[in-house]
Amino acid sequence: MSNSLLHKVALITGATSGIGAATAIRFAEAGALVICTGRNKERGNEVVNHIITRGYNALFYEMDLTSDESIQSVADIVKKEFDSLDIIFNNAGIFPILPPLESITRADIDAVTSTNISGFMMVTKYFFPLLKKGATILNNASIAGLQNYTSGQSYAYSASKAAVIKTTQLLAKKYGNRIRVNAICPGVIKTPIFKNFDEERFASMIPMGRTGMPEEVAAVANFLVSDDASYINGAIVPVDGGQSL
Ligand SMILES: NC(=O)c1ccc[n+]([C@@H]2O[C@H](COP(=O)([O-])OP(=O)(O)OC[C@H]3O[C@@H](n4cnc5c(N)ncnc54)[C@H](OP(=O)(O)O)[C@@H]3O)[C@@H](O)[C@H]2O)c1
Repeated sequence: MSNSLLHKVALITGATSGIGAATAIRFAEAGALVICTGRNKERGNEVVNHIITRGYNALFYEMDLTSDESIQSVADIVKKEFDSLDIIFNNAGIFPILPPLESITRADIDAVTSTNISGFMMVTKYFFPLLKKGATILNNASIAGLQNYTSGQSYAYSASKAAVIKTTQLLAKKYGNRIRVNAICPGVIKTPIFKNFDEERFASMIPMGRTGMPEEVAAVANFLVSDDASYINGAIVPVDGGQSL
C-alpha cells in the first residue's frame, strides 16, 4: 500500500458500512488520519477499531445528515481538534425502494432528498471553511444519476444522485482555484444498501459480467483524493464495470 495520503486528515460520511467503511480503511492504510462519521456508533467504532488494531489512525463521531445541528456540532469539534481538513468524502446515502410515481408521497421523496441532497450539501457547507488550499472534496453519486432506469421505483434516488453530480461540477468550477472537487459514480457494488442482492440478475446487466466490491470503489476514491490526481477537477468517474455504457 502506498503512502499517498500521508499526513492528510480525511472526513468520511457514512463510514459505518459498505463503501464508506472500505474507504475509511483504504485511506487510513494510505497514511491518512480518518474521521469516520455516521449514525450507528457501534458499527462506527468497529470500523475504527479495525483500523487502529492494524496500526493506522482513525476516530468516530456520530453525525446524522438529516440534522443540521448534528452536522454543525461535528464540524465545530473537528475545527477545534484538527483545525483543518485535507479531504472530505461525501459518501453517505440511502436507497430505499419507493412506490411507483402513481402512489409516491411527498414524505417518500423527502426521506431520500433530506439525506442524499440536503444532507450532502449541508456537510459541504459546514465543513467547507475547514478546507485548506489544495484540499479536495470527493462526492459519491451513482450511475443512477447518469443513466435512465425503467424501474419506476428510483425516481427520487436517481434525481438525488443527478443533483450530486451537478453540485460537484458547479463547486469544481467555482472553487477550482483553491480545491479540487470530483465525483464517483458506482454501479452495482455489493453492500448492505441492497436488501436482496441478486448477483446473477445484476451481473447480466454489466459488461464485465460481475458486480463490484466496496474495496474497488475505495481504490478509485484513494486515487482521486491523492496528489496523483492533482490535475483532475470536476470529473465524474464511473466505477461500474462498464454498466453505464
Ligand atoms: N452499493 C451500490 O451499489 C452503490 C451504487 C451507487 C452509489 N452508491 C452510493 O454509495 C454510498 C454508500 O452506499 P453503500 O452501498 O456503501 O451503502 P451502505 O452500506 O448502506 O452505507 C450507507 C452509509 O450511509 C450512512 N447514512 C445513511 N443515512 C445517513 C444519515 N442520515 N446520516 C449519516 N449517515 C447516513 C450509513 O451510516 P449510518 O447507518 O451509521 O448512519 C452508512 O454508513 C451511498 O451514497 C450510495 O448511494 C452505492
